[in-house]
Amino acid sequence: MTIEEIWENARGIMAPKCRVCKECNGLACKGEIPGVGAAGDASSWTACTEFLKKVKLNMDTIYDFQGVDTGVSMFGRHWKSPVFVSPIGGISGYNYNGAITQEEYDRRLIEGASAASILAFVGDGASRQQVKSGVAAAVAAGAPVVPVMKPWKTEAFIKRWKEIKCGNIIALGMDIDAAGFANLGTAVDSVSPRGVAELREIVKDAGVPFILKGIMTAKGAEKAAEAGCEAIVVSTHGGRVIPSAPATCSVLPEIRAAVGGRMKILVDGGIRSGADVFKALALGADAAMIGRPFVIAGHGGGAEGIAAYAEHINKQLCNIMLLCGAADIRAISREMVRIES
Ligand SMILES: Cc1cc2nc3c(=O)[nH]c(=O)nc-3n(C[C@H](O)[C@H](O)[C@H](O)COP(=O)(O)O)c2cc1C
Repeated sequence: MTIEEIWENARGIMAPKCRVCKECNGLACKGEIPGVGAAGDASSWTACTEFLKKVKLNMDTIYDFQGVDTGVSMFGRHWKSPVFVSPIGGISGYNYNGAITQEEYDRRLIEGASAASILAFVGDGASRQQVKSGVAAAVAAGAPVVPVMKPWKTEAFIKRWKEIKCGNIIALGMDIDAAGFANLGTAVDSVSPRGVAELREIVKDAGVPFILKGIMTAKGAEKAAEAGCEAIVVSTHGGRVIPSAPATCSVLPEIRAAVGGRMKILVDGGIRSGADVFKALALGADAAMIGRPFVIAGHGGGAEGIAAYAEHINKQLCNIMLLCGAADIRAISREMVRIES
């Protein structure tokens, strides 16, 4: 199956909520779910795609070529590519059109990610079933997974964590920016911001590497490090929680400068090609994540579609690395890109 065939198939399946645009950039679905959801406008999402267009690649092919390696080690495992799958919930209900269930998407996602040797994150929602569904899919496939739980009140968070804890979970995440859903009448309530001391308690209780998702400032990243997090995801939830946020990749340099090598930095939001992944890594990320296009790939091509899309992005990344003179992921550096105003 080619990427074009997967997208064509998805177009027939995902209407009317997702139009399966050639370029998934938030313009056609502005102000709608799955475009933006709670944030009300598309500004924080389109900021990401617009910023990435301004980041240019510095080509240099004069060097002794020994091949290109896109492998990365993270959370105790080796991955073929630094491109992971962002957690996406509400597949069968409020976000998409219900053509497939959350369970079916999670099965396709985990099997596809596993085939491509990349890491899949799975989402959480008001229903306890949602986070369990992603974990169950990983258990069934014997694959690793990172569930990202909502910032439920600490007692409820720990209780839910105990319900899902198992050997397939190689790290636990919290999408702390989902605190913004509390007052918006969405399906998610009983969530709130969390202080460093309370986070430290949650991180300690987890017993696996902890990841905070939804960090957008150097100060926030420092607090995550103080709480004992192993990684953060620089993210605005795909522009769904707050309007007028800066592009996620634009804040990477200041966040990297603040935390140095203390934490792994992942980023998502509008990343759509191997070139975008390269830009994110050059600006300070250790890995990039992609959300909505994997949902399209899963609808249009099943597990095979997920794996094919992951391979497609990784091939593009490989090619950009070759053209910019980066033999491996660690060799991708700030001077390999320039930002045009
Ligand atoms: C429909 C939809 C549902 C999402 N559900 C979750 C979720 O349950 N948990 C979470 O941490 N993030 C969730 N996100 C945010 C994604 O994980 C991710 O941050 C975002 O989609 C990345 O941007 P991209 O889609 O432009 O690649 C959701 C995003 C969308 C579009």
